[in-house]
Amino acid sequence: MLHEWLKDSKHTVIFTGAGMSTESGLPDFRSTNRGIWRKKDPGKIASVDALNHHVEDFTEFYRERVLGVKEFGPHKGHQILADWEKNGLIQAVITQNVDGFHQAAGSKQVHELHGTLQKLHCQSCGKVYDSAAYVEEDYYCSCGGILRPSIVLFGEMLPEDAFSAAFELAKQADLFIVLGSSLSVTPANQFPEIAKQNGAKLVIVNQEKTPLDNYADLVVFDRKIGAYLEETDKLL
Ligand code: APR
Repeated sequence: MLHEWLKDSKHTVIFTGAGMSTESGLPDFRSTNRGIWRKKDPGKIASVDALNHHVEDFTEFYRERVLGVKEFGPHKGHQILADWEKNGLIQAVITQNVDGFHQAAGSKQVHELHGTLQKLHCQSCGKVYDSAAYVEEDYYCSCGGILRPSIVLFGEMLPEDAFSAAFELAKQADLFIVLGSSLSVTPANQFPEIAKQNGAKLVIVNQEKTPLDNYADLVVFDRKIGAYLEETDKLL
């Protein structure tokens, strides 16, 4: 089924969430038994308020996540998506993930709606650093300002360039494939709807229910993403 749609489609867009990276070893946020937000309150740890008023908790939490994206890397599923882009089967990846694994696997057209953990920047002067500084527990800029990951914290705006690129891609898509997202965070979760409203076939590959399942043309919930992508790839 999906392999046929992939071959027939002229504008296929992939939309990924944290479920795309669990098979690399990173935890997701809302999986019933192991999601990060099942144990921590995002408002208290992943917000500008936490950065400004609970800086030790903030840097400790994000140092852990930086260590994770440096320890783990892309899995076969990321590699397949990069190959599909090379072979012209997909146009781009819109991702909510901040691990950089799509680019590490070779994907070129990647739009990071929530920024990246691979970089830090100074909250005062904006100077950019590699996130290795957090590994070394260097938390301050040469100007004295606090260094923070270049991700979108709760309450912050999404990067304009990624947002508008994703908007255009969703509008033009004739096939829009969600991989590993609970579709519970706005405005990222609007893109599957925009694609569907503009005539795209919507596919959702996710091990738990999402609010858009009834709206999708195909829902795959009983397979892990990696295995499903490998199977589909073999049928191409
Ligand atoms: N195969 C299929 N589905 C999977 C797999 C897998 N191997 N692993 C996890 N999943 C599913 C989970 O069941 C879950 O529903 O992926 C989904 C991930 O959802 P979330 O944990 O909510 O992650 P995401 O949708 O990316 O969260 C969006 O929330 O905290 C913010 O900024 C953060 O980008 C993140 C945003």
